[in-house]
Amino acid sequence: MLVLGIETSCDETSAAVVDDTSIYSNVVWSQQEHAKYGGIVPELASRAHVRAIVPVIETALKEASIKLNDIDGLAVTKGPGLIGSLIVGMNVTKGMAISLSKPFVGVHHLEGHIFSNVIERNIETPFLTLLASGGHTELVLVENLGQYRLLGQTLDDAAGEAFDKVAKLLNLLPTNKMVMGGRAIAAAAECGDPQAIPFPRALASVDSFDFSFSGLKTAVSNHVKQLQESSIDLREVVPDVAASFQAAVVEVLVGRTIKAMDFLNVSRVAIAGGVAANRLLRTDLQSRVEQKGGEFFCPALELCTDNAAMIAATGLFYMQRGNQSVMDLDVSARIPLPPAVVN
Ligand code: KG4
Ligand code: ZN
Repeated sequence: MLVLGIETSCDETSAAVVDDTSIYSNVVWSQQEHAKYGGIVPELASRAHVRAIVPVIETALKEASIKLNDIDGLAVTKGPGLIGSLIVGMNVTKGMAISLSKPFVGVHHLEGHIFSNVIERNIETPFLTLLASGGHTELVLVENLGQYRLLGQTLDDAAGEAFDKVAKLLNLLPTNKMVMGGRAIAAAAECGDPQAIPFPRALASVDSFDFSFSGLKTAVSNHVKQLQESSIDLREVVPDVAASFQAAVVEVLVGRTIKAMDFLNVSRVAIAGGVAANRLLRTDLQSRVEQKGGEFFCPALELCTDNAAMIAATGLFYMQRGNQSVMDLDVSARIPLPPAVVN
């Protein structure tokens, strides 16, 4: 069964063609128009999706060497995300579904991230997933695919959001090119000392699986202010600040995930979402899970950040179970996981 997936929940316009065994194409067009504003401007994002969506779909079909008529169904992100951006993907998908007389499935974006680990391979359930992106940080027990238990989540900022805000604070984001904050911090941290500044690890002693990153972000901001007041050149200390901040985020993410692994007595642990591209997080969590005799899974780097292959794979799963969405399915800025129903 060949599925064309479409993802437009934020600032990436993406289309992919997958079946149960392979990804045939996964085209991601990253919008550049937000760079000069230092953050994503929702209205600009929807307009950019309108301009990019058809060429991106055409490229995905071409790279997969198929024609539109060859697909058996479509999958599209229905939320959570930016409403104006989601609407573009949803309406294009519905238009194609009608004109081709093919089924379509509206996919929960976070469920898509969970599926990024099971494209082209199976993971035996149950498995624990640490889902860390720009908008969400959640610990989810995947009891079965399609059946999830939320163990904990961030009480304020998402981990990726903290990376983005601290990157901006450290002047690491160029104004002529979109660079993900997390990537910029990870690069700056390469030659820094992760123990240079003892940034706080929030909720460390609390008996829950929740996260909090806003206090850490404020601590970095206060630290930077102090440095500036003492006329220290920020550029000289950026590597140490970036490395110490990254170490604090990773320690909290790894610590909470291992605690959940112990609590649930699960042996399989996966990570997903944009922050899962972080090398320190991947290596630290992998070694902690393996020390405990567990199995660790992480997606290929290009499947961590937003992409349509994960949406197509999720839609394929539901279509194979006989589910499809109805034409009056609407997009939604916020939808809780687990998804209640497919449509
Ligand atoms: O999953 P994603 O592409 O979009 C959302 O669903 O939010 O995640 C984007 C987030 C951004 O906050 C970005 O800074 C972060 O993932 N990110 C990283 C890295 N690459 C991307 N965070 C830490 N280290 C990275 N290497
Ligand atoms: Zn995402």
